[in-house]
Amino acid sequence: MVKAFIDLLYRYALRLVRIPNFTPAHQAALARALGRPKDETRKEFAVPDFPMICRLGNATDAAGRPTAFFNRQGEEWHSDGAGSGDVNGITMLYALDVPRQGGETMYASLHTAWETLDPATQARIRPLRTLHSFNWHNDKILRLSPGAAKPLSAAERAAIPDRRYNLVQTHPITGRTLYYVSPNLVHEITGLDETERDELVAQLIGHASASHRGYRHLWSPGDLLVWDNNALMHSATDVSAYVDDRRLLHRSFTVPPANAI
Ligand SMILES: [Fe+2]
Repeated sequence: MVKAFIDLLYRYALRLVRIPNFTPAHQAALARALGRPKDETRKEFAVPDFPMICRLGNATDAAGRPTAFFNRQGEEWHSDGAGSGDVNGITMLYALDVPRQGGETMYASLHTAWETLDPATQARIRPLRTLHSFNWHNDKILRLSPGAAKPLSAAERAAIPDRRYNLVQTHPITGRTLYYVSPNLVHEITGLDETERDELVAQLIGHASASHRGYRHLWSPGDLLVWDNNALMHSATDVSAYVDDRRLLHRSFTVPPANAI
């Protein structure tokens, strides 16, 4: 059963399961079946007794205090795990409350992006390496979304060091080529100054996320999306679309074993 689920996950990179009443215990069990779940970085928003599950969205308590992590940046393409070195991590996102409009999640295939890239750009980016920095990114979130989360302690920051990756990669399980870039985290690209870095990242993200190649998921309560972060990047959408409605999802992140398939 789990093997069949994983086979389909790597074949299609994204799976939607409609499953009402999927509890945190169910999510934790599936996360463990897929590999090694990681505890959430923003511990104040972890589901009680489930440190691997984070509450995401604009939910608040009766006093208006946030009870979920709410990143107000909206569209921001990335792969989960790019900041922690878990390039091939699997994300699960389960919808509890969804707004009447907006709040979609967008997906783009990094394989399709590579395969449809022009040969000159393929040759240009093949030797490049990137530096992805979670702390640089997180500092930016806290500046742009004041009060969204507690600043990390020095020990928590040190536990997430900057990571260097090849820009062009071979997927460790499917063997397909892709380019791996999380624009929110890319602090450096070898040999490029900041302007060149930003131009190349914008070109690669614009190409990958072109709407005719991507998928935009309109959530319903009870939707569970599971995806392979090495094959796909994803993005939220404009948060101003649902200011009067509550949005709450449960996220977990699992590092699969090396022999996942
Ligand atoms: Fe994400």
